Amino acid sequence: MSVHKEIKKITTNTLQAMKQRGEKIAMLTGYDYSMATILDDAGIDVVLVGDSASNVMAGHETTLPITLDQMIYHASSVVRAVNRALVVVDLPFGSYQGNSKEALNSSIRIMKESGAHAVKMEGGLEIAESVSRILAAGIPVMGHLGLTPQSIYKFGTYTVRAKEEAEADKLREDAIKLQELGCFSIVLEKIPAKLAQEVSQSLSIPTIGIGAGQYCDGQVLVIHDMLGINKGFRPRFLRQYASLYDVMNEAIQAYIKDVKAKDFPSEKEQY
Ligand code: KIV
Repeated sequence: MSVHKEIKKITTNTLQAMKQRGEKIAMLTGYDYSMATILDDAGIDVVLVGDSASNVMAGHETTLPITLDQMIYHASSVVRAVNRALVVVDLPFGSYQGNSKEALNSSIRIMKESGAHAVKMEGGLEIAESVSRILAAGIPVMGHLGLTPQSIYKFGTYTVRAKEEAEADKLREDAIKLQELGCFSIVLEKIPAKLAQEVSQSLSIPTIGIGAGQYCDGQVLVIHDMLGINKGFRPRFLRQYASLYDVMNEAIQAYIKDVKAKDFPSEKEQY
């Protein structure tokens, strides 16, 4: 008789229930099979296939260059690794801003070709029609307000957003609108903790913060940043849980030394 291990999968309803019972949601980015295996085995609730892949995987300065095909490649690699977590995929710049039909088509491609569970998109009122259309097709949508990196050339800097009352008011309205449209969650990026607290308390859907303080319903970080793979990126909001750059650098240097010294492979390491 075969024994099937029951794995309880995280769904958008699970996240809603977590907010209701006050359990924080842990989300991290993931872009490839091996990292996603580690994330899922460790028990992460949500893997975000973020368009930050453009920065940390491809070395671009911004998130703008990454394409829909490249996002689908990353997402399908992650989906193959994940048994339990919810997999959310960023709609990349240029794949949804044109019109709601384009937004729907891009979302359908992500869901169909990668097997992911939801999409994320940046913006509020201005993308309402697209959000509605995607939701009407049965695709769960996560919103993203505050610092929205796809608009970096409009903002001009990556500094904290919504410090002024007018921008804070717009963010409050956008958050309510996204909830009314049916988004299952909203990322709040780099806004004052007090504003994030107020927005989180005013919504019934969970907020996930990055640089938005302790009162969000969950937190997200870019995996390369929190593992210390990116040397030199140390914004105030980042807690670095490991120094993998140094660990990997040392291991690679040790390998180089062993090869040069004809110490590797040894007799035991050959056939
Ligand atoms: O692309 C990304 O990694 C993100 C997170 C920073 C929220 O959108």
